[in-house]
Amino acid sequence: MRKNFGKQTWVLPQPVLIIGTYDKEGNADAMNAAWGGVYDANKIIISLSPHKTTENIVANRAFTVSFGDVKNLLAADYVGIVSAHAEPQKMQKAGLHTHRAEHVAAPVIEEFPVTLECELEEFTKDGNVIGKIVNVSAEEEVLTGGKIDLGKLGLLIFDPVAAAYRVVGEKVGNAFADGKKLAK
Ligand SMILES: Cc1cc2nc3c(=O)[nH]c(=O)nc-3n(C[C@H](O)[C@H](O)[C@H](O)COP(=O)(O)O)c2cc1C
Repeated sequence: MRKNFGKQTWVLPQPVLIIGTYDKEGNADAMNAAWGGVYDANKIIISLSPHKTTENIVANRAFTVSFGDVKNLLAADYVGIVSAHAEPQKMQKAGLHTHRAEHVAAPVIEEFPVTLECELEEFTKDGNVIGKIVNVSAEEEVLTGGKIDLGKLGLLIFDPVAAAYRVVGEKVGNAFADGKKLAK
């Protein structure tokens, strides 16, 4: 028997995206966003309510997206529950350090090893931000053979049913390949 849960926004699992922005004075901010994903071929879409982050994205037409990892779980959650509007020392309290991204007017958060640099494409009328990804950078420590290795990331995923974080586990197959065994 299957049980129905009705209308739920549960696309399992959801990412733990850390959005990095600068305000008008050049102060860095970060927020956690789990309602986001790939859009089109080279874009990201994130469903955003009004935040300091949204003001910052409008001001600079840019943002970065890092991926929450288990090493930085407390900081990732903290930036999702405290606004820079209420706590101007938010980044210091989170223990996060930043430098300006190479390609956009937004901060790279140094503690998170993989970062997308995004130019604002549009804010849709129903509150989605769409960004064009213009660069991806990653720390050496998460590379294997020059490629980003998810086995080294300790990547967090968001479980919207339990409001929990989980960590991405081991590799169990090869995409675009294993299914061929059934195609014979
Ligand atoms: C796990 C988690 C996921 C979240 N996902 C989103 C989201 O997808 N969209 C959103 O608008 N807010 C989301 N939030 C809330 C913001 O991160 C939060 O309001 C934050 O304090 C905004 O910071 P700011 O005002 O400094 O920009 C999430 C928070 C948590 C803890």
